[in-house]
Amino acid sequence: MRAFSNIKKLEMSHEGFGSKIGAIAAAAGSAVGLGNIWRFPYVTGENGGAAFLLVYIAFTLIIALPVLMSEFAIGRTTGKPVTDAFRSLAPKGKWYLIGFSGVVCAFVILSFYNVVAGWTLYYTYLSITGALNNLSPAEVTQTFNNTLSDPATCIIWMLVMMGMTGYVVARGVSEGIEKYSKILMPILLVLIILICVRSLSLDTENKGIKFLLSPDFSKLTPRALVEALGQAFFSLSLGMGTMTTYGAYISKKQNLAKCATSVAIIDFMVAFLAGLMIFPCAFAFGVNPGSGPGLVFETLPNVFNQMPMGQVMAIGFFTLLVVAAVTSSISILEVLASYFMTKLNIGRKRATVFSILLSIGFGIGCSVFPTMLDFFDNLSANILLPLGAFFIILFVPLKVGPERMRNEMEAHGGKFTLFPCYYFLAKYIVPWAILFIFISKILPWLGINAF
Ligand code: TRP
Repeated sequence: MRAFSNIKKLEMSHEGFGSKIGAIAAAAGSAVGLGNIWRFPYVTGENGGAAFLLVYIAFTLIIALPVLMSEFAIGRTTGKPVTDAFRSLAPKGKWYLIGFSGVVCAFVILSFYNVVAGWTLYYTYLSITGALNNLSPAEVTQTFNNTLSDPATCIIWMLVMMGMTGYVVARGVSEGIEKYSKILMPILLVLIILICVRSLSLDTENKGIKFLLSPDFSKLTPRALVEALGQAFFSLSLGMGTMTTYGAYISKKQNLAKCATSVAIIDFMVAFLAGLMIFPCAFAFGVNPGSGPGLVFETLPNVFNQMPMGQVMAIGFFTLLVVAAVTSSISILEVLASYFMTKLNIGRKRATVFSILLSIGFGIGCSVFPTMLDFFDNLSANILLPLGAFFIILFVPLKVGPERMRNEMEAHGGKFTLFPCYYFLAKYIVPWAILFIFISKILPWLGINAF
């Protein structure tokens, strides 16, 4: 995200990520975050487990991956951040509104994302003080409920998270963060694997594994389809222009299809491992896997209490989760900051402060009213992101076309043999699939019972 910090410079020199690892690491830094470790397990738990997981995998491959490739390509072909990218490819139409809807969405996500990140930071603090040590499962659940019902605590930690995100974006120092996160994220992965091992060994009847891996399709509801799609978009940071902006910074030497596939694989692996870590633990300690957004916080402290060096593991895990949250959160704030920089013609610092202040207003709302947090979470993933992704994918056949798309994806990075497959999906499948799933969500809201 050195990228982001140097938008002006980029336009002059067309600077980009030097290496493939640099580009993938930055995009993966945005993708991997609370969406994988907090959101994926709780949404999977609420939607019945394995069957949902299969739908999620299918949607990631068939719908989200083509959208990710398209966002990268649109960004790189114009070399511009989101609002300008669409305007420069289609100067006449209203396509620049995609960028605008991304801005609205960024506000919604940033507000609740930092509240959840604040809970994570608070849990880091609780781990350090030892407050989570030797609690019974009931007390662990109680601790989370107490956190939720204490708005002052939630607001304070949310403000700290917003402050950290704002600091990084205002100073344009995300390059440094990226460098550290390249080292820290693999450590987080190792911790997750260790926790998985302990969690699996505690679940003596293997109920958690069965929940995650043996599908029962009768549990699949229309709502589960919408949520699987929303989760796929949320987790890969799609539908909002984040990845379009990243595309602008990827070097022409890279094959975009390969970059996108690598990011999707990394993102999925982290989510899957988070599932493997949380569900066995939920069954071992009698936590309902469908208990909602508190799932991670109600399960994991129990495993830490049953692990060698549990407190150290807890501190390490929550700290690294905070880092993962920050690298994602800056990619959301950057959308807002760069928008206000160009729209209001103000500097980076002012634009950041302005965006943060607006988000803090909503963030306080989400801290005080958990239902507002739920609503924002649902609104962004299940409505705004699919809507954004729908227009982004329509843009490909209507305004870019196959030749340009293919040239861009391959550039100097070698052939993309599956291009026809990508283009077919992008033109004929993805828009309709999104529309269909989306309508099945909207109809019940309008009081029409379609299913
Ligand atoms: N993908 C991130 C996560 O999983 C969250 C995120 C960052 C995001 N940027 C985004 C979600 C843009 C949607 C759109 O935690």
